[in-house]
Amino acid sequence: MSEKPMILTDQNSGESVELPINRGTEGEPTFEIKAVPSKLGYFTYDPGYAATASCTSKITFIDGGMGILRYRGYPIEQLAEQSDFLEVAFLLMNGELPNRAEYDEFTAEITYHSMVHEKLNTFISGFHYDAHPMAMMAGVVGSLAAFYHAKLDMSDPGHRKLAAMRMISKMPTIAAACYRHHMGWPTAYPPNGLNYCERFLHMMFSVPAETYEVSSVAARAFDLLFILHADHEQNASTSTVRLVGSTGANPYACVAAGISALWGPAHGGANEQVLKMLEQIGDVSNVPKFVAKAKDRDDPFRMMGFGHRVYKNFDPRATIIREAAHEVLSELGQSDPLMDLALELERIALEDEYFIEKKLYPNVDFYSGIIYRALGIPVSMFTVMFAIARTVGWVSQWLEQSDNPTRIGRPRQVYAGETERNYVDIDQR
Ligand code: SDX
Repeated sequence: MSEKPMILTDQNSGESVELPINRGTEGEPTFEIKAVPSKLGYFTYDPGYAATASCTSKITFIDGGMGILRYRGYPIEQLAEQSDFLEVAFLLMNGELPNRAEYDEFTAEITYHSMVHEKLNTFISGFHYDAHPMAMMAGVVGSLAAFYHAKLDMSDPGHRKLAAMRMISKMPTIAAACYRHHMGWPTAYPPNGLNYCERFLHMMFSVPAETYEVSSVAARAFDLLFILHADHEQNASTSTVRLVGSTGANPYACVAAGISALWGPAHGGANEQVLKMLEQIGDVSNVPKFVAKAKDRDDPFRMMGFGHRVYKNFDPRATIIREAAHEVLSELGQSDPLMDLALELERIALEDEYFIEKKLYPNVDFYSGIIYRALGIPVSMFTVMFAIARTVGWVSQWLEQSDNPTRIGRPRQVYAGETERNYVDIDQR
């Protein structure tokens, strides 16, 4: 039996309009509002899109109340435990887990595209040594369309797929080149004989003067973190990629826009801010003072790494990363006072009425920096790590939208400015 539509009635005019119900396979139902402007003369108003579904997608499902995250139906806990990043990339892009032959072909193609045009290294060398790597990434990734323009016919599915593969493959190479520019080291080219994460580590930390031994602990930790950061439905940066993509812009421009959106401290930039916050707190004895600052509406300080628009329960990724942080530190024989501080901060916050009432739990960014720090990644590169992983989600969502193009994204506004008035000559003002 088909579901009855919502009825929206304007009690001033008595006019009503039927709003069809739109249910997916899971999650809250929606009702379609496209008839409202023409039938009732109203637009809807939803700053921050907290109550708005922007698209239909089959890629990632989140249940914020239950702390559920699934990629193409597979629980994140199972993928974290049993899969690897490139298998997850194949899954997110294609909708199914690869068989052995598909996996081998996919990983070989990613390896094949891992080098970048040599002129990109010249581009990178033009940045000041202390440029923030996210600023460099946004500029360099946006410039890829200037290097790979031969196959950028967006109406050609083959060109779209190739651009997506190139993005996934070249992000670690570009990221490592940005880091090495900052360090004053020569470019390290991607060694094809290593896997995705081993190759990234080699490009980041190898130096010509000696043989570089890839740490299996580090490679495994990066692979896990990349899986956990790969996609997250319509977050701010993915929505940015979709909006830019809705204009028909090329995928390099879309991903460059996504990188810029991710950099914000309210989004992916939070992982860098969490480490700076923990260093600012410094000692467990200071935690109550900072919890009080976080609760003070007149204080701009926010507990970085806490809270989420969708999760009103634990972020399942934070739970996995917290355990992984313990494992990495113990496998490396390290201890990190900031880990102890983070655990104590979490304990105190989760017992505090403010955090309980506002349902503020640690999110994906709260513990990830502890692992990056233990593995020698500088704080300024933390969000770059997030961008490497999220490129898989961005290109998967861009491909999904490109395969079924939507109308160009163009929200409306509530105009609150001056009503019509006439120009006054400068000498009369
Ligand atoms: C990511 O969307 C995604 O999926 C993102 C992400 C992904 O994988 O793509 O999960 C990655 O971006 C994780 C979030 C990383 N950001 C941070 O850790 C920064 C700190 N967190 C906040 O800025 C905030 O929680 C957001 C941005 C994450 C969510 O913001 P919302 O949903 O707009 O919530 P809000 O700002 O409206 O907060 C609701 C209330 C407010 O209080 P009131 O105005 O109702 O009195 O909770 C308070 C906020 O002041 N609040 C916090 C807080 N987060 C929210 N108070 C103190 N510390 C915080 N961290």
